Amino acid sequence: MTRVMIVDDQPQNRYLLEVLLKHHGYEVTSASNGAEALATARETPPDLIVSDVLMPVMDGFALCRAWRADEALAPIPFIFYTATYTQPQDEEFALSLGADRYIIKPSEPKVLARVVAEVLAGGRGRRPAAPAQPLGEEMEFFRQHNAVLFQKLEKKVASLELEIARRREIERALGESEKRFRNLFERNLAGVFRTNLAGRVLDCNTAFAQMLGFDTPGEVCSQPAISLYARTEDRDAFLDAIRREKRLINYEFRGRRKDGTPFFGLENVSLIEEEEEPELLEGTVIDITKRRTAERRVQLQLRRLAGLRAIDSAISTNLDARTAFKVCIAQALDQLEVDAVSILLAHPPSRDLECAAALGFATESVWHERLHLEATPAAGAHEGEGLSLPDVRAEGGTSPRRKLLEREGFRAYFAAPFFVKGRFRGLLEVFRRTPLTPDPEWMDFLAALAGQAGIALDNASLFEDLQRSNQELALAYDSTLEGWTHALEMRDRETQGHTLRAAEMTLRLARAVGLPEHDSVHVWRGALLHDIGKVGIPDAILLKPGPLTDEEWAVMRRHPEYAFSLLSPIGFLKAALEIPYCHHERWDGTGYPRGLKGEEIPLAARVFSVVDVWDALSFERPYRPAWPKERVLTYLAENAGSQFDPQVVPVFLDVIRDGG
Ligand code: C2E
Ligand code: SIN
Ligand code: SIN
Ligand code: FE
Ligand code: FE
Repeated sequence: MTRVMIVDDQPQNRYLLEVLLKHHGYEVTSASNGAEALATARETPPDLIVSDVLMPVMDGFALCRAWRADEALAPIPFIFYTATYTQPQDEEFALSLGADRYIIKPSEPKVLARVVAEVLAGGRGRRPAAPAQPLGEEMEFFRQHNAVLFQKLEKKVASLELEIARRREIERALGESEKRFRNLFERNLAGVFRTNLAGRVLDCNTAFAQMLGFDTPGEVCSQPAISLYARTEDRDAFLDAIRREKRLINYEFRGRRKDGTPFFGLENVSLIEEEEEPELLEGTVIDITKRRTAERRVQLQLRRLAGLRAIDSAISTNLDARTAFKVCIAQALDQLEVDAVSILLAHPPSRDLECAAALGFATESVWHERLHLEATPAAGAHEGEGLSLPDVRAEGGTSPRRKLLEREGFRAYFAAPFFVKGRFRGLLEVFRRTPLTPDPEWMDFLAALAGQAGIALDNASLFEDLQRSNQELALAYDSTLEGWTHALEMRDRETQGHTLRAAEMTLRLARAVGLPEHDSVHVWRGALLHDIGKVGIPDAILLKPGPLTDEEWAVMRRHPEYAFSLLSPIGFLKAALEIPYCHHERWDGTGYPRGLKGEEIPLAARVFSVVDVWDALSFERPYRPAWPKERVLTYLAENAGSQFDPQVVPVFLDVIRDGG
């Protein structure tokens, strides 16, 4: 049987060749390097040898050289079979050493089998042993051998270096993007978090930790997500929503800080579905407590304004002060959240105050108990501070109302004086059965109600100066309005004072176009309240960073009508309605809500719409950046006659250029 020797340092290569050659009917012996092959072959010479080139101990080139130098082995055919030495000069060198064939892997198995058969057919003994080589040739062999090996080595090293450089670059780029990402995460002003549905906080940034009252993100991560909610059932509702929607935009929730205080959060969250962690939530939160509080204040103030108006109309329709007192007391009970209210009047020259109206008392004492003028806080004074006992028991029973408070079991007592023509005329007293810590607005409203009681008294006495009281009334209203405007701005994320500036500009322009001076108070109030109707627009639309959809526009375009329904019941604001109701009408009739055209639009609204657009474009909005000044002015000029009254725009441009 024909015997083939395989020399290869890789066992799997040897195995493959062995299977192949055995399949073709050869007997196979194998060796794992040149030295082993020589030893085995000298023992039992094969009929043919197939050798790899690169091998430890003795490589294929050295084996071939030794093979040819050995008298017994020299006639046996020698085939190289290599994957690594594939350059033409490698093959030349191999053949120069006396190899019969040089085959490059991977070649099809049948190619190798054919070559083996061919070479064997060429016959054994075809080739005489090479004579012992002279020293010069020996040197030449080593020189060439080295050259071939070095070339290989250099290439290998070069490609390794390239590989290392590439790896470093990838690592650096990864590190860089990791760092950038981390910075983005960490420096984000919004709270950024990652939680899982199971309720663990996995990661968060410093803003998130601080919003919740923790010092570091690490502290938050040791908390269960449920503890971030004011009410635990809210998290279930949140989970239902996120499972259903996969993404929640502008989702409001009531959170709880580390110290237990509640806050309002607005979050945007996505459900991340990855294979390993199918229940991951990622999102951002901002704290909207201030804005929500502002909204509540707007509502409260709206109610209080309506309350003042109710008393106002009671005063103007009744000559008897007692009717107005009753309305005043009802408002105090309702809006100041107290349990009992009384109005005491001074009747000089008597030194006592006596009760003129009262509600909410369990006993009759308030009607009988007299309060000495000297004992009252404002006695004889023109301006009185009133008296505040937020917690009666803490006062040690020194109050002038001690007996009444004890008998009725009241815990809190407040009294505000009122005056007519600068003279002290009485007290408005409120009582509560639990302690009360009022805020400044509560105190202001108490004072405003006392003021109304004074006006009622004044009005009732008929001979007194009506004009003056109306003026006082108007002053009380106007300061309420400004507080209200401020609260609106906070919700709309306007810079503070911005609406005031727009109102001032409107007043200047109104004067310049010749609007009658006696209307200016209405223009002023109308401009302050122009967007009051936005109270009715949901945050998701009002604060939307991009353009509105058709449906959202339909909602947004209702804000002038909302303004109409909010303001029209309030008598003294009726004349100020023109601006809030008509500021989005357009000269060419394409505006809203009614599509009024030209001079059908009230002049005040035509004036204001120029200021509004000038102002809107000059400042950034959630949905677009501010425009440069010149571009705004060009816009106004270009739209005179279509959007704006063509006579108002040039006057505005003059005013703005004069005024800087
Ligand atoms: P606003 O921001 O106070 O804008 C008042 C008016 O200024 C606008 O009335 C419009 O006449 C003008 N204006 C404001 N920004 C632009 C602008 O970029 N280009 C032009 N040509 N005019 C501008 P309008 O259009 O009736 O909008 C009323 C209110 O609707 C706006 O009050 C704002 O609160 C809201 N709104 C308008 N567009 C968008 C939007 O794309 N996205 C969002 N989220 N809200 C919008
Ligand atoms: C969560 O409950 O998984 C999100 C945390 C959050 O609402 O702030
Ligand atoms: C607002 O529009 O939201 C108030 C300020 C202004 O545009 O005049
Ligand atoms: Fe508007
Ligand atoms: Fe506006």
